Amino acid sequence: MADIDFASLAQEQPYVVAAGLGLIGILLFLLLGRKSYGPVPKHLKSFDRIPGPAGLPMIGNLLSFGTAKPKAHLTWAEWAKTYGKIYQYSLSGKRFVVVTDPAALPTVLGSENFSKSPLAIAGEGALSKEAHAGLAAAFGPEGAKAQFSTALRRAVDLAAKIDKDGPDRPIDMQAALEEAVLDTVLTNAFDATAEKLDAVRKPLQASLHAASLQAARPVTNPMAALLGGGAMRDAKADAAWIELVRGLRRRGPAARTDTSIAAALSRLTDADGAPLSDEALATQAAALTVAALEPTAQSIAWALFSIATTPSLQDGIAKELSENGLLAHGEDREPRLPEYDDLPKLPFLTAVIKESQRLFPAAAIGPLRYADKNTELAGYFIPKGTHVQVPLLALHTAPWNWPQPERFWPERWTTPEARGGPKAGPDGLASAFLPCGASCISAHVAEAQVAAFVAVLASRFKMSLSGGGRKATLERQVLDSALRLAGGMKMVFVPRASIGFSSRL
Ligand code: HEM
Repeated sequence: MADIDFASLAQEQPYVVAAGLGLIGILLFLLLGRKSYGPVPKHLKSFDRIPGPAGLPMIGNLLSFGTAKPKAHLTWAEWAKTYGKIYQYSLSGKRFVVVTDPAALPTVLGSENFSKSPLAIAGEGALSKEAHAGLAAAFGPEGAKAQFSTALRRAVDLAAKIDKDGPDRPIDMQAALEEAVLDTVLTNAFDATAEKLDAVRKPLQASLHAASLQAARPVTNPMAALLGGGAMRDAKADAAWIELVRGLRRRGPAARTDTSIAAALSRLTDADGAPLSDEALATQAAALTVAALEPTAQSIAWALFSIATTPSLQDGIAKELSENGLLAHGEDREPRLPEYDDLPKLPFLTAVIKESQRLFPAAAIGPLRYADKNTELAGYFIPKGTHVQVPLLALHTAPWNWPQPERFWPERWTTPEARGGPKAGPDGLASAFLPCGASCISAHVAEAQVAAFVAVLASRFKMSLSGGGRKATLERQVLDSALRLAGGMKMVFVPRASIGFSSRL
């Protein structure tokens, strides 16, 4: 073989040499860059046999996620239909396994081999284990009733505001509900007065949204997460949290029998059992509020969207409210407000909310877990460091979980004989319906709060969507910090009673 003079070749044909070196680099990357997982136990299939979309070296499936209008929830759901109950994808070297098989959920959500993914923890702002445990007592049956009644008060205030603004003015319900739910959370957490709420609402809103966005971005919009910097600390928001915490401290120690969130917050300690500093308590209160705010506000917004775009749902709910003496009509300006114990008497309203949460899950990323060590899942070997995800739209629309999955069909919840419910059965983690994931501290309380808002607004107004039909509007759906409509959810409300009404609580 003739000798090759690389020096003169590089001078004469620099591009050929550069291309050759690049090719060698790619080959080396493909050969050496493959992760070695060590020996796979004989009874398990190797990780590489989990089906999934092909990705590019280094970036994996990054390009499948849009940046301007992130719709990762639709991508995850489509992939489930193509690749099945368990599939994998990767993002810049991070492996993700997606599970939509109810039989595998208890392993992911209930076993010690999987802990909360570091991607699901918003850095310093995360709720501590101690806070999670300390706050749980406030979400028992008594706490649920108290939180329901706070939500009811805020819903009546919102209804009064809508009534005052007039029926012709479209209202962005995403924004209006974020404000009303923030007031609900702060009232529950700090017994905040109306003046206090007015003082802190503005500085908190922007920083809470930024915190939710930053927490969600690595999964919902990975390209933007790569390009964007970290969230800036907001001095005004920090001061507002401290102000709220000091107000709580001024009330003195809570009675032992007090089961409110405010009492639970004031009792929180660190891992060594020492009381929290004001700053540390503010961080925990902010983490709780971030977890509560957008999922609750957007769940209510999507339920209203479903009602506003389907007259038969609106009529069915009105009929049920009327049968229970809860509907405004004629001169009856202020119908009886629902009580917590009324909720079981409103099965259709409950079914509409569930069906809306199924098809428009506000917290659409779903539970995100992490394999702390090499482990197994559904017969596959799962290497340490794998993220395991249960994206809710994929779970809620998988054809192996639901008959006619794309159909908005409230009766699937009320008439089991229609066999429309989750095929896996409604119990525990084996369910195919997990709008609040597995570790939401507020799961059943949140449902009641959503019902409080929907019942109050549906009892007083006929509502419709403004600025486009259902299909066109759904084109604007995005998953950023939560599932929402880009550009807002504008709705028009017409009072059912002939005369307006005012807040009476
Ligand atoms: C309908 C409204 C709500 C929805 C759809 C929702 C949904 C979720 C989801 C999907 C998770 C992740 C669960 C997992 O990883 O297994 C979660 C966690 C959580 N949620 Fe909710 N949630 C709602 C309301 C609330 C409310 C009102 C609160 C508190 C007042 C709350 C507090 C929490 C907390 C503390 C966590 C755990 C966060 C952590 O571990 O750091 N949620 N929620």
